[in-house]
Amino acid sequence: MGKIVAANWKMNLKRQGARELAAALARDGRQAWLFPAAVHLVEVAEAIKGGKLQLGAQDVSPDRDGAFTGDLSAEMLADAGASLVLAGHSERRQGHGESSGLIARKLKRALQGGLSPLLCVGETRAEREMGHAAAIVGQQLSVLSELSPTQRTQVAAVAYEPVWAIGTGLNATAKQADEMHREVKSKLKSLGMEKTPVLYGGSVKADNCAELLACPNVDGLLVGGASLTYESLAAIDDAARK
Ligand code: 13P
Repeated sequence: MGKIVAANWKMNLKRQGARELAAALARDGRQAWLFPAAVHLVEVAEAIKGGKLQLGAQDVSPDRDGAFTGDLSAEMLADAGASLVLAGHSERRQGHGESSGLIARKLKRALQGGLSPLLCVGETRAEREMGHAAAIVGQQLSVLSELSPTQRTQVAAVAYEPVWAIGTGLNATAKQADEMHREVKSKLKSLGMEKTPVLYGGSVKADNCAELLACPNVDGLLVGGASLTYESLAAIDDAARK
């Protein structure tokens, strides 16, 4: 069985690089979830056809269609081959000012348009230092209460990604991750989502993934920088299959 490995390629790679990386993973018969840039979805979908890899988008419009210049609807992303979508990533909360209200709309719209969302949550360094990490993560998870009970069961995963660990090389320790995942799971249980997997993200690398994967409350990993080369992503995926 193993644990889930999700690769967030963010604003990296070009068409050829994305296609070749996806094709190499598909050739191995891997089951990871890939989140390429939206302009690479069609190409990656083609490269992984018939295999077990799943494809997702990094963002989705909260609206269905119409005059929203630059936005991409859930239906468009599904039509391009995506079945998953990230919502609430800290790079969008911080860099694009996304509020909980907007994230709730995106979650609902994703589900209505045929995509399973992954909700990303995580505290900043200052919030952790003030002892507010669990409260902040709890607040961020509250958007899930705006979904119907059926919609909640269609959420693909929650990803705990502490902001201070993303792209910094400073991953949460296995103990920190496991403790927060326990909190997240208890909140999910109260929402009827005890089966929803909880992934850890933030400076996951081939050399630190084993201890994170060994945590009982860590159901998988959401990997950024270390998912951009075949060697590194395959090594993490191999560790998740053990
Ligand atoms: P890094 O693995 O580069 O820290 O990024 C994590 C992340 O934000 C995945 O969504």
